[in-house]
Amino acid sequence: MSKTLLVVHHTPSPFCQAMFEAVLAGATDPQIEGVEVVRRAALEVSASDMLAADGYVLGTPANLGYISGALKHAFDVCYYPILDSTRGRPYGLYLHGNEGTEGAERAVQSITTGLGWVKAADYVAISGKPGKPDLEACWELGATVAAQLMG
Ligand SMILES: Cc1cc2nc3c(=O)[nH]c(=O)nc-3n(C[C@H](O)[C@H](O)[C@H](O)COP(=O)(O)O)c2cc1C
Repeated sequence: MSKTLLVVHHTPSPFCQAMFEAVLAGATDPQIEGVEVVRRAALEVSASDMLAADGYVLGTPANLGYISGALKHAFDVCYYPILDSTRGRPYGLYLHGNEGTEGAERAVQSITTGLGWVKAADYVAISGKPGKPDLEACWELGATVAAQLMG
């Protein structure tokens, strides 16, 4: 039976878009079999989307020392409906910021600890224009989380 990787992202700029596309490319690499990759904008994702997935990649800019309001909204809406039903599932995170992403990293660590999700790869945090190694790290992130879902 195929598994589902859900990419929940807030993508407000070309740099964030480049990271998002690199994550998707890694997650959909032909070597990864039996994993369907579903993408949802953070302002649109539902608890049903979250429950239907087997693993997650979260993507957001750092805003005002925290995750974007959009990703915060996703968890505001979904947190309690999925609590205890998604425990143990793997997840990854990519962040884009220009002034420091630590607050956003801490926020995701705290939210995912509450949910019982398991960090499947190092967080990818990028400042400024993403270079080739940065986009490769995003690719690796997508591939790593997707590979964990392979039978
Ligand atoms: C209201 C606002 C607050 C922001 N706060 C932070 C922040 O706390 N830390 C940070 O690293 N970047 C911050 N940024 C920069 C965004 O993370 C950045 O705009 C986003 O990642 C997109 O990157 P780009 O504008 O360079 O394309 C902020 C941007 C806005 C609009």
